[in-house]
Amino acid sequence: DRGVARVPVVVHVVARTPAEDITAEQVHSQIDVLNRDFRATNPDTADVPAPFQGLVADPQIEFHLATTDPAGNPTDGITRTSTTVNGFGADDQVKFTARGGQDAWPADRYLNLWVCQLGGGLLGYAQFPGGPPETDGVVILQSAFGTTGTARAPFDLGRTATHEIGHYLNLFHIWGDDGTGCRGSDEVDDTPNAGGPNYGRPAFPHVTCSNGPHGDLFMDYMDYVDDAAMVMFSAGQVARMSACLTGVRTSLWA
Ligand code: ARG
Ligand code: ZN
Ligand code: CA
Repeated sequence: DRGVARVPVVVHVVARTPAEDITAEQVHSQIDVLNRDFRATNPDTADVPAPFQGLVADPQIEFHLATTDPAGNPTDGITRTSTTVNGFGADDQVKFTARGGQDAWPADRYLNLWVCQLGGGLLGYAQFPGGPPETDGVVILQSAFGTTGTARAPFDLGRTATHEIGHYLNLFHIWGDDGTGCRGSDEVDDTPNAGGPNYGRPAFPHVTCSNGPHGDLFMDYMDYVDDAAMVMFSAGQVARMSACLTGVRTSLWA
């Protein structure tokens, strides 16, 4: 047992309009969500169907806004950048000052979160461990970030960041990213093999890939359901995140 990992976070707010320049309060509301979801203290784990309750696990990860910047000066952990870019894509442009975004802080010491307008219905995207440090971290749509301010239903409970940080800590989608087939795997043993992504607020059970009677673990953070319907990581997912935190991402907290 490694104990609780405390991860320093920098939030880069990259805004074209005053609304996109989200408040510190909205940023804090997101950090609060992460500190519930990654300690399994979120009250909505009560919504996990009884047959899956035993899978609910505590990742033992806490997040705090950085108090020291890369130069060693005090910071509130939030950078603010004004941009002329009207909707970023999934191409990492927002991660570079020279391209209308904001450069990453050293990825071996900070979890970089960029918050901006995204195009194409994208809620967010993440870089898996082992990639280039310049682009390491997570990007989130401003209206899917936190629980107040510009956050909009059904993505207004801060779960996009929970999901993307799952990827950042090496988790795959629970359906195994093979479209709707049954061959893909998330490389986690306790998550039932599932067909494709679930959306909205599914009714239990949703059986695919002969995973009856209980069906898909669609209430897991690594599915595509609405924020209100994703409420847990499994023990196997927690073990995978832990391996990442004690392996390639150990410098982040230890
Ligand atoms: N990368 C996914 C997307 O952009 C994120 C899904 C997050 N789901 C959620 N309920 N917040 O679609
Ligand atoms: Zn995803
Ligand atoms: Ca699986």
